[in-house]
Amino acid sequence: MTIIDGKSVGATLAAETGDFVRSLGTSQNLKPGLAVVIVGNDPASRIYVNHKVKKAAELAIHSVKHELPENASQADVLGLIEVLNQDPAIHGILVQSPPPAHIDERRIIETITPEKDVDCFHPYNVGKLAIGDTDGFVPCTPAGIMVLLQRYDITVAGRHAVVVGRSNIVGRPMTLLLSRKSRYGNATVTLCHSRTADIADVIRQGDIVVAAIGKPGFITGDMVKPGCVIIDVGINRVDDPTAKRGYRLVGDTDFESVSQKASYMTPVPGGVGPMTIAMLMANTVRACCLQNGLAPPDHPF
Ligand code: GUN
Repeated sequence: MTIIDGKSVGATLAAETGDFVRSLGTSQNLKPGLAVVIVGNDPASRIYVNHKVKKAAELAIHSVKHELPENASQADVLGLIEVLNQDPAIHGILVQSPPPAHIDERRIIETITPEKDVDCFHPYNVGKLAIGDTDGFVPCTPAGIMVLLQRYDITVAGRHAVVVGRSNIVGRPMTLLLSRKSRYGNATVTLCHSRTADIADVIRQGDIVVAAIGKPGFITGDMVKPGCVIIDVGINRVDDPTAKRGYRLVGDTDFESVSQKASYMTPVPGGVGPMTIAMLMANTVRACCLQNGLAPPDHPF
């Protein structure tokens, strides 16, 4: 079984993005800019946002973090987005999800100008993704998974991919990319979710399984086909008194039993997670290029 090393691929991708950023500076006097907005105090979200800002700085991408209090109003958030939409130094805008319950996330997403929607959450960009129009964006986690499939040269065309979980961030766009007519698409795709009957039987048919349901260890070795490729998107905290922080991170698959049967598998942590952040940087650079009439770097979708 080959471990798919997202940490290493993510670092390579980030280095490539960093090189491109430097060349944009030299040849065009351009610096890509990313605004990251977080509303409220969710500790995990704050950690993710800090990672994003730190990675941007490492790659010489201009980044600004806007931290709004838990009680910020809808108008406060919309007002900030309007300002960022107009700011020429900002090419990408990300509002960390989920916001507090009193904020209407759809309104927020629809206010971000599609050209700066580096998350690919805006219905305009989601529509482009659905119809196979490649001049929009690809959401960061599914994009990162496609790059992993590419860099490990995993055959996707003609195989049965089973996506478990129907979120807008991962599951749904993943089905679109895997079924696309593209070099790393052309799979036959099944989307499973909490109401799927006999879900173990469906997952067992998957040559490629993408697990994105947010349930620790949900997929066990008896539920997968021998030789399958496992992409585990789960990041679940489980209590562990022996760990320094009192918890450890586990995926949506039971690594011990599933790794006995899989041919390739992403670990948690160190699999899909580092790719998401690398793709956010790549999307910010892409946004900067498109907004300035320049050709963005190629991608495998
Ligand atoms: N929350 C969890 N993942 C993401 C992501 O990719 N983008 C945003 N904006 N929020 C998230």
